[in-house]
Amino acid sequence: MQKSPISLCIFDLDGVIVDTAKYHYIAWKRLAAEFGYDLTEAQNEKLKGVSRVQSLNHILDWAGVTKTEEEKTALATRKNNWYVELIQNVTPDDALPGVVSFIHELKQAGIKVALGSASKNARVILDKLELSSLFDAIVDGTMTVKSKPDPEVFLKGTELTNTSPHASLVFEDAAKGIDAALAGGMLAVGIGTEDQLGHSDFVLPGFDNYTLSDFLKQLTRVKQV
Ligand code: BG6
Ligand code: MG
Repeated sequence: MQKSPISLCIFDLDGVIVDTAKYHYIAWKRLAAEFGYDLTEAQNEKLKGVSRVQSLNHILDWAGVTKTEEEKTALATRKNNWYVELIQNVTPDDALPGVVSFIHELKQAGIKVALGSASKNARVILDKLELSSLFDAIVDGTMTVKSKPDPEVFLKGTELTNTSPHASLVFEDAAKGIDAALAGGMLAVGIGTEDQLGHSDFVLPGFDNYTLSDFLKQLTRVKQV
């Protein structure tokens, strides 16, 4: 098999490894409903990859509601409590189809694997999925100050694994996450649809039946080796 021009693959968590994006939406929708606002799926799409506090600020803006910093902290905590309740039942079976075997294939090929998530709950979720030990580095929302589309979360992953951003590739389901990867000088693969993620280097619907060999073929198309 051909050698990979990529030394590190960084995975976003929510919506790439596990479908927790739907739980974020449920919890935000419940919170917004409390101040009489109906959060739509299209708006929720804009919150993907965005930190908890910034997500709340967006929702308050859209709703035209003003809150004090203290009230915002309380609201963010309430949303997180609901979210944490929703993720309690996550098990290894909840990993999205094909993603775990794909990560194993990468590792067997000598490609490092890191997590790059905006979530402060990322480690808990990875533990529930029993995947924590697979990662050479885990970067979560407790380790960054700037939200995607800033590349900080992914650049930390390259630093922790001593890898150049130019030899790194990010898998992301959020448009802002793709922006972050590209801003950091990495290749960006969208997990989802062309209409949301058309600015990626390439888009996959998911990892189901996706192999290392498929990956290397697509890489040669986007990267001169
Ligand atoms: C990202 C999600 O992974 O994490 C966002 O896409 C979420 O929707 C963000 O707001 C922060 O998550 P948490 O768990 O720290 O509230
Ligand atoms: Mg995501």
